[in-house]
Amino acid sequence: MSTPASGVWFAPGRANLMGEHTDYNEGLVLPFALSQGVTATVTRRDDGLLAMRSKQMPGDEIITVGVDGLRPASVQGWAAYPAGVAWALRAADVPVAGATIEIDSDLPVGAGVSSSAALECAVALGLCEVSGIAMSRRVLAAVARQAENEFVGAPTGIIDQHASLLCQAGHAMLLDCATRDITQVPFCPSAAGVSSLVIDTCVPHSLADGAYARRRAQCEEAARQLEVPFLGQITDPADAGRLEDPKLRRRARHVVSDSARARAIATALAEEDGADVYRDIGDLLTAGHASLRDDFEVSWTQADVTVETAIDAGAYGAKMIGGGFGGSVLALVPTGAIADVRAAVTRTFTERSWTPPAFMEAVPSPAARRIA
Ligand code: GLA
Repeated sequence: MSTPASGVWFAPGRANLMGEHTDYNEGLVLPFALSQGVTATVTRRDDGLLAMRSKQMPGDEIITVGVDGLRPASVQGWAAYPAGVAWALRAADVPVAGATIEIDSDLPVGAGVSSSAALECAVALGLCEVSGIAMSRRVLAAVARQAENEFVGAPTGIIDQHASLLCQAGHAMLLDCATRDITQVPFCPSAAGVSSLVIDTCVPHSLADGAYARRRAQCEEAARQLEVPFLGQITDPADAGRLEDPKLRRRARHVVSDSARARAIATALAEEDGADVYRDIGDLLTAGHASLRDDFEVSWTQADVTVETAIDAGAYGAKMIGGGFGGSVLALVPTGAIADVRAAVTRTFTERSWTPPAFMEAVPSPAARRIA
């Protein structure tokens, strides 16, 4: 296959059915790819420069850096993500060329739907292909995560990049973050008259601030006290109960119970179809939200109110998705109740003078790919 000088790559955002903050604990996650995502038009250049521009940034400013001079934290703002990918590829001894990179996106930023990973993955695929380099998607996911962890400085886990690069249309992906085993489970709610709806609470979050990192440190401390390398190795909630510190006990209980719920949903999806399974999964979603709110303490008022209002208006269940402290809620809603759920959540936000929520249909979609 000849090396293209230029092309367009698309990488999707993700929603996560279950398993929040379990990825860096080497537990289970169950994401699916969205139809919305990031598009990167990548053109090879021979002068060793990366020239980056995003249609979402005011002024259409072009940010130019030399690939050779890239060091962690040497680029700030949105361009740190594409630059970080080039840096991480070079750090893995992959001789990526300079490139002009133009970004477009229909994913909201800071909404907990993985816009950063989508940006990284679209750029990673494009840079590799115009540089004539073939890499496995699993390795590319690790490279993109390294860019986010070490170049951008956000201590995230592996779910987002794996979801963007490895999910399949009409499926959710059960990923064991310890072994990296993947099981694709059929997930097609529309066939059962159910919609999965992402409700953006329009409270932006950031993973590079301290709260996410503090949760991670607490989990590491809990694992240390329980004498396991990662909390994901604990499957009996009674083990989490052995922790003396009540906060660490709650953190560990969340990780153990969310992994168990991820497995339960995957099993239910694999074994049954029809609307009834979505009622049961809805209950698990709501239980997952309660655990994130009470045990892991990463929810926020608008998310709690959205979950409650959506269920009162007919949703089978709902939970916050992503790192928390802002972002979106995922609800499973019988299609006939969609209008009621949207109206009820919008009304509740208006009554409280909050920024109006935004709604996105979350259709389980294919992974990242070249589109032109
Ligand atoms: C963010 C991170 C992920 C994961 C989730 C919480 O999306 O990027 O690695 O930890 O939060 O499940």
